[in-house]
Amino acid sequence: AMRPLAERLLTGTRVLLTAGPTRELLDPVRYLGNRSSGRMGYALASALGHLGAQVVLVSGPTALPVPKVAESIQVETALEMRAAVMEQVASCDLFVATAAVADYRPAEPAARKIKKDAEELTLRLVRNPDILAEVAALTPPPFTVGFAAETDEVERHALAKRTAKGLDMIAANRVGGERGGFERDENALTVFWDGGRRDLPMMPKTRLARELAALIAERYLERHV
Ligand code: CTP
Ligand code: CA
Repeated sequence: AMRPLAERLLTGTRVLLTAGPTRELLDPVRYLGNRSSGRMGYALASALGHLGAQVVLVSGPTALPVPKVAESIQVETALEMRAAVMEQVASCDLFVATAAVADYRPAEPAARKIKKDAEELTLRLVRNPDILAEVAALTPPPFTVGFAAETDEVERHALAKRTAKGLDMIAANRVGGERGGFERDENALTVFWDGGRRDLPMMPKTRLARELAALIAERYLERHV
């Protein structure tokens, strides 16, 4: 159902949002991937849309139906995701990075299918660009929101990431445990910004996305009105 007009806080703003995993090609039929389902990102894209924002979604491969957004761009690799983001970012007011971007990619993807000739195979990987850090370093940057997926010392790592990348907000979640994170319907987040924090306790990802969208809108409007 539509929300009342008064709650459409992000009407007139354009939000660029990355979601899903990336796939880093090893050869024409294989890739290195990760366990991101894209669910949190897609739910957040919908929730921001319900607040009136025009959402541009840049997504890696997921099994999800594309949410109703202003524009949806499907990519596969981190380099493709970065290219799509850099093409769109100048026209956007907010950048929300929910994607689980691969930190490394194979240094020399094979042009042909790798055959099992050898007993051992060593892969050499090179660093991918940090899309979020690059966007936050633009002049002027959009309002930037990052995620921090951590298995331990969640708060310390998240705060360090917010500072290092120069982000307006960071949403930290614990991954790899029994509860929440990847491949789950529920999640919990702790959100940090300059001088503030809010705990969003364990709840279904759709509801969590609505609460996070409202918090993003609140912080953004605080800064930009
Ligand atoms: N991110 C990005 N581009 C990358 C890597 C990460 O845009 N190449 C974004 C993610 O979308 C997320 C944030 O940066 O919003 C943090 O990602 P995370 O993997 O938690 O942190 P990293 O900075 O990659 O550090 P590490 O994996 O070593 O913890
Ligand atoms: Ca990473």
